[in-house]
This record gives sequence, structure tokens and C-alpha cells, in this order.
Amino acid sequence: MNRRRFLGVGAAAAGVAACSPLSSSVAVTPLAVPPGASVAPVSAIRRLIVERVDPVAGRCRYVADLGGQQIAHPILVARRGDRFDAIVENRLPQPTTVHFHGLALAEAQDGAGFDAIAPGASKALRFEVKNRAGLYWFHPHPHGFTAEQVHAGLAGLLVVTDAEDEALDAALGLVPGNRLALAVADARVASGALRPYTPSEEDCLHGWFGNRALANGAIGAQAPVSSGWVRLQLLNACNARGLLLGFRDNGSDGAGVPFHLLGTDGGLLAAPIPLEQVFLYSGERVDIAIDVSGRREIAAVSLAFDPRHQARGGRLAHRHPARGNFPTLSTETVCGAGAARDAADFLPDGGELALFRLRVSGIGKPAPALPARLSSLPEAAEPAGATPRRMRLDFDERLGFLIDQTPYRLDEIAFSVGRGAREVWEIRNSPISMPHPMHLHGFSFRVLRRQATFGPARRLAIHGSGRLPTDLGVKDTVVLWPNETLWLAVDFTLPGETAFSGRQRYMFHCHNLEHEDGMMMRNFAVL
Ligand code: C2O
Ligand code: CU
Ligand code: CU
Repeated sequence: MNRRRFLGVGAAAAGVAACSPLSSSVAVTPLAVPPGASVAPVSAIRRLIVERVDPVAGRCRYVADLGGQQIAHPILVARRGDRFDAIVENRLPQPTTVHFHGLALAEAQDGAGFDAIAPGASKALRFEVKNRAGLYWFHPHPHGFTAEQVHAGLAGLLVVTDAEDEALDAALGLVPGNRLALAVADARVASGALRPYTPSEEDCLHGWFGNRALANGAIGAQAPVSSGWVRLQLLNACNARGLLLGFRDNGSDGAGVPFHLLGTDGGLLAAPIPLEQVFLYSGERVDIAIDVSGRREIAAVSLAFDPRHQARGGRLAHRHPARGNFPTLSTETVCGAGAARDAADFLPDGGELALFRLRVSGIGKPAPALPARLSSLPEAAEPAGATPRRMRLDFDERLGFLIDQTPYRLDEIAFSVGRGAREVWEIRNSPISMPHPMHLHGFSFRVLRRQATFGPARRLAIHGSGRLPTDLGVKDTVVLWPNETLWLAVDFTLPGETAFSGRQRYMFHCHNLEHEDGMMMRNFAVL
């Protein structure tokens, strides 16, 4: 393991929390911890504790126990092939699971919610990291509680590296501190206080949107970086907000700062793509490089856009079968009929939002040229002769958003696919809808084409097949705009046969977490 590079990731990420003068007096649970302590190599973790730290606002955290040393809000790091072997302890008053989003895992390790860990109980979790290098993440997935628990701060990063990834850092001449892994989330902040999770029926339909951004748990975060290339691996950990990520030079009237897309959910692209803005929806990740030479301060923002929420009306009565048996994380109710949005702490989806800042020091040598090739990733290929598996995303005024008109049921299996099959999924979003970031467990996919894209995504298409820049990489989460149809090439090859024997259940769902808890999810089996 390359310890120095890992510490570089950690120190940089920790810097965000440690050096972030909060722009209000809000006490936020940071996802990163003081320098030197934030990074936990997956193979060193003995226990992963899930606990509540603030019962009033309902804030929670992960603590990694490395056998003596305890790290709160750990950023996990692994080299491809490393093993995770730890006991997960649930100290929440609700059932929870730990789902490693994006990893190729068997059902028993996927933490998808089929066998949630009861309050006070523990469970062993063992697996090998088989995925390509990239940014992955872990979060709770107990059906009906996912949105509340992720919002409470339970969203941790996993940075996976390999030889290609390290070669890129060397080619960029990255100095320590110039590689950052950041989870961006949004929260409602009013009168200096972080508001607990109390979605109204309206929020359950459209998603929970806050008015302030948190980067690794800190509001108004700033990271010190040095002149040259900065490599940012970013996760959209918002419950529901879509981000149109862009950068501005605060030293020159806020002029846009161009950047290069290096990678997506499942690792590096074949070649970098120069961009000025990129969509990043809930659950998606991007890996980008910015040349900060000659600049003093760069602001990362979500630019204003029309999010095309076209579904209106309907009273959503969410049925969370298990919810009634457990208390909420905060002292306030969840999804209560009486809850109403407060204009003071609400910024609608698509509103401009400041995310974090990079403060540049030093006048280094000029940044080296970006490598023309980043990885050996092949172009997406359509499997010959495959009959597409069709799915529709619907809107129902009574039930909300659904997949194929069917609300989620834990014990249902919507369809089965053959082990090793290579399928084409044709997914169509209804015209009366909103963007849905659809996520597949256990397997990655490639986007083959998009059709009937309207709205702000359309002008960002860079490819004859209607694809967006992020569509050119390996994906596990992809956004469908209203009225759009997407074709995905999904490869159901299971790595490591012994760990995956027998029927395996996985899920496909919307990663707008209010939609996920609101039943926009289906199980399928791999036989
Ligand atoms: Cu990020 Cu099914 O989850
Ligand atoms: Cu997932
Ligand atoms: Cu959705």
C-alpha cells in the first residue's frame, strides 16, 4: 500500500474540516477529522460503529476502530484487492445497514436492507475490494430509514487506488494536499442551527432540499491547495439535490475556471474531457483535474439550472411498514402530515449554491500537460443480439414515483437475470416527471445512448448518441431527465465465484432518497 499517497488524500480532505471557518455558528458534524487521523485503510478496520451524537438535531456518525485507535468520520482507503473484515455495531435507535455503493459484492455483503441490523445489534462484514480504482461510498440502506440516516451524516467515502490511478497522480505532479475526496451534501440551516430531518408531503414527492452545502460535513469549507494540478474526487451525497458543478475564480470577478473530467462512478475514463460544467446527481461521483496555477481562490458552485420538476400535486402518504416501531433520530417527526417547508431554510433544486473553496498558495512550476490516455477503459459496446429489458419510471398522483407502476416490496423479485449475462436495459422516464438518478447495486454499466433529452442536459451532450460527458465512463448511477429514454449495457459477470454462489438479490432504485424510501425501488435476482 502506498501510505504516503493515502495520507495525502487524508490530509487534504481533513484540511477541509480542520481549516473551515464556518460562515455561521452552526455546529455541524464533520465527515472528516483532524489531520493525520481521518484516513482509515479498509484492511485495518476491526469495528465500524454507527452512532448518534446529537439526539436533538438527529446527527449521527461512523467511527472506525482500528484496534485501539478510533477514527470518527473516517475516509476509507483501499488498494484494489484489499479486504474489509470488521464488525458493524449499530448503536442507533433504528435498524441500519452498511451498503458500499458501487462495489461488486454478494447479497450478504451488499447491505441492501434484506437483513438490517437491529438497534444494539452487531454483524460481521467481510469482503474483498474488486472494483477499479475510483471514489465509492458507504451509507445506510434500511428500507424506510435510508433518507433520514444519510441526511443525519451517515455517508462515508471509500477511495480505491490501483497502479493506473497512481500513475495518473505522478503524471499530474500532484503535491500532497492537492488530491481531495469530498462528499457534498445539503442541509437546512436557519438562525444558526442545523435543522433536523422533517420532510413534508411536498418534500417526499420532490425530495429534501436544504439551503446550505456541506463538504465532508463542514459548511463554508475551504481547502488549502498548492499551485499546479488539483485532483478532486467528488460525491453528490445530497438526499435529492442535483448539482451542476462549476468553478469560479474569486480573484478575477468570478470568471469560470475550466476543468477536465478524468473519471466517473467506476473509475477513470479512457481520456480526459475538457469541460466548464458537469451534472452530478445524488449518488454519482466525478473525478476532475483543475489547474489552479496563477489563481488565489477558486469557488466550487452548483450553477443555477432548470431542474424540470414537472410532477405536481398528489398527497403522498408514504407507507414505511417498519417506521412506526422505531423512534426518529431527532426530536421531531419524519414525513409528518403537519410538516411544512420554511422559506428561510429552503433553496429549491436547481438554485445556485456555494459548495466549497480552494485557497491556492505558492507559485509552483507550470502544471505538466495532462496525459492523453488515462486508462485502458474500452468504448461502451452493445452486446450483440440482446433484446432490451424495458423499464418505465412512472408518476402516480396517489403513490408518487414508481418503477413499472409497482411500489417496492422487500419480498418481491421483479425479474431474474443469468449469471454472466450481458443485457441492454432500456429505461424510459415519463414526461410528467423529474430527473431520477437511477442506481444499480452490485454491477456497473455503460451508457449506450440517450433519446429525447430536453432541458439543461441537452446542450451538454457531446456525442452523437446524446450522451453527456459522464456517460462515457463506468457508471452505477445515472440520471434520467423527464421524457428521456436511456439504453444501458449491463454486464452481470460476478467476480469471485465462491463468494457469490447461489441466488443473489440486488436492487435497482432511484437515488433521490425520498423517492427510494417512497418505494421507487425494485429487487431483482442473479441466478
Ligand atoms: Cu447508494 Cu441502493 O444505494
Ligand atoms: Cu448502491
Ligand atoms: Cu427519483
